[in-house]
Amino acid sequence: MSYDVVIRGGTVATAADTYRADVGIRDGRIVAIADSLADAREVIDAGGLLVLPGGIDSHVHIEQPGGDGSMTADDFESGTRSAACGGTTTIMPFAMQFRGRSLRETTDAYRRKAEGKAMIDYAIHLIIADPTDQVIGQDLPALIKDGYTSFKVYMTYDDLKLNDRQMLDVLSLARREGAMTMIHAENSDCISWLTARLAATGRTGPRYHCTSRPMPVEREASHRAIALAELLDTPMLLVHVSGREAVDEIRRAQARGLKVYGETCPQYLFLEEANLAMPGFMGAMCVCSPPPRDRANQAAMWDALAGGVFQVVSSDHCPYRFNDPKGKMIAGPNAPFWKIPNGIPGIETRLPLLFDGVSKGRITLQQFVALSATNQARIYGLDGRKGAIAVGADADIALWDPKREVTIRNEDLHHNVDYTPYEGITVTGWPVHVLSRGTVVVRDGRPLGRKGHGEFLRCRPPEAAKPAGRRVVPAELV
Ligand code: URP
Ligand code: ZN
Ligand code: ZN
Repeated sequence: MSYDVVIRGGTVATAADTYRADVGIRDGRIVAIADSLADAREVIDAGGLLVLPGGIDSHVHIEQPGGDGSMTADDFESGTRSAACGGTTTIMPFAMQFRGRSLRETTDAYRRKAEGKAMIDYAIHLIIADPTDQVIGQDLPALIKDGYTSFKVYMTYDDLKLNDRQMLDVLSLARREGAMTMIHAENSDCISWLTARLAATGRTGPRYHCTSRPMPVEREASHRAIALAELLDTPMLLVHVSGREAVDEIRRAQARGLKVYGETCPQYLFLEEANLAMPGFMGAMCVCSPPPRDRANQAAMWDALAGGVFQVVSSDHCPYRFNDPKGKMIAGPNAPFWKIPNGIPGIETRLPLLFDGVSKGRITLQQFVALSATNQARIYGLDGRKGAIAVGADADIALWDPKREVTIRNEDLHHNVDYTPYEGITVTGWPVHVLSRGTVVVRDGRPLGRKGHGEFLRCRPPEAAKPAGRRVVPAELV
């Protein structure tokens, strides 16, 4: 048998095990995994390297407009280039509905933004801000059939938030159609009440963003979201979980047999409240929601990763340039914290930061693979094709040097952002070569990707979204 590419002499790691093998690729797929493979057009020497499934970043905001006139800084070209350089081969950004706008038109328009630009494959989640009868009864069922099988709802932000009744409408529809609901859990009224108090007392700098969104705000909303999902026996995933009290809610739900999944992000493993207290307006660089907590919380989050509470580590890459009137400076350099666009960049640094946890013995290599790729494929209906080194899967592969020490510098990254919140952090482990469907898109750390190589992925209704079979209310009501 001849191959287009053979990856020779590497150590393959999956979510289950680690072994030495060659990997043979033909027509973009993995077709053989064996002790020794010959007869290839191209041989990639993987001696001393790990052969890992390319990462799936299942929570990114690419070319996403905000209601305040802001715009995230990466389009599908720069975003996918940067993702690939960090070892990611699939991204999942959001088509965001504005209230009063058609969800179908929103989604079609968003698809057009990716066409001809993406360098790696992408699937698309929906953001439901306006769950009208048309959306619930017609648009969502049709979009789910077209491969958009996951959507995010917000419990905060005035222009996005759903009330509990609307959340139940969405969760009930998700149950019926087998879709996955992602939830941004923060109590909106608590945030606006605290914000008004902070404003009235002149505490408006970036650091007070954290004061306005303390842990109980996230804990309460997480608890409520879990209760709503339990009522309908609908699986759901809490996104960007920041701290230990929300972790406790998820752990308790999982212990009760609920299908409640959790996602966290590097900002909650590496950043802290003090980062928002940098001089002047600099703290705006780390304004995201929920906000980073304290140093002790970082350790608790690593423990929760090691303990299996989380299934997903995503970047929540929501990049706003610092010196930019469409970015962090939209309301000027002295803007109060509530006018600073929420979100930070991290699409390229997600996997190296997480891999550093392997290097330091905080998580295992198998956990890294599961948290970075394999679980995302399963939770969002891409398994079989993505997230695994297996015969038949797409040859989306990242070859990692597990010993390489890198000090993160924004000038070395490939995103379209003028800073990284991780500047100066040294990590051990970095991707060297990256393949997307058998094509080398990063070689020796340098991007080679071609615009338009990336394809749209239709997701299946995932197994993970099937009800757990724990009925709380009569079946005919849900
Ligand atoms: O601050 C954040 N996380 N911004 C991105 C939007 C979101 O809620 O995920
Ligand atoms: Zn969110
Ligand atoms: Zn997000």
